[in-house]
Amino acid sequence: MELPRLETERLVLRAPSESDVPAMPGVFHDPDIYAYTRNIPYPYTPDDAVAAIDRYRRLADEGRAMTLFPELIETGEMIGLAVLVVEADRPVAELGYALGRRWWGRGYATEACRAMLAYGFGTLGLDEINAHSMVRNPASARVLEKLGMVSLGEIAKACEKDGLLYDAHGYVMNRAQWESR
Ligand SMILES: CC(C)(COP(=O)(O)OP(=O)(O)OC[C@H]1O[C@@H](n2cnc3c(N)ncnc32)[C@H](O)[C@@H]1OP(=O)(O)O)[C@@H](O)C(=O)NCCC(=O)NCCS
Repeated sequence: MELPRLETERLVLRAPSESDVPAMPGVFHDPDIYAYTRNIPYPYTPDDAVAAIDRYRRLADEGRAMTLFPELIETGEMIGLAVLVVEADRPVAELGYALGRRWWGRGYATEACRAMLAYGFGTLGLDEINAHSMVRNPASARVLEKLGMVSLGEIAKACEKDGLLYDAHGYVMNRAQWESR
């Protein structure tokens, strides 16, 4: 899967690369990011960053996930990640995202995710994009609502993390809903 470069009003979303490794612990080393995401470790070391860059590339090569790093146009800072994890046998993907804490609360996650939805429906030809936010994570649920995704309510044990199952709010959007938003 070719990783695109997506531009929004304030962000560029582009492929992760080895040159991001020094900045990544400063963005992702955070107990709350660890708590609310599936694959971001805590503590987050430079070795974790190297492994993550390898994994993102492998998943893209295998067509399984498109991980992009949003960067602020104004400063060039890399501020987090957004990902579409594509199902193997149908045109459906799950949206994920995390931003470094110092950039929370400025609408950047919503802006980045809107670009991911546009690319997913517009270029990847997906029929459906879904997302799950753990029940203790209202900021993430709010992002999904602002995107216009439809709430499926609380789903018991919908998120698997470190071998445990957590309740989550499910959200979904299909192509027709995207086109008529
Ligand atoms: C979730 C996350 C990506 C949000 O990023 P962000 O850039 O702050 O998101 P936005 O600014 O686009 O939107 C956040 C919304 O949540 C709201 N919000 C923040 N904290 C909240 C809380 N405790 N309760 C209710 N709403 C909350 C904000 O007010 C904002 O809504 P508004 O625009 O209507 O005011 C960021 O907090 C994060 O990276 N968290 C850790 C990782 C994570 O949870 N990833 C998602 C996994 S599903």
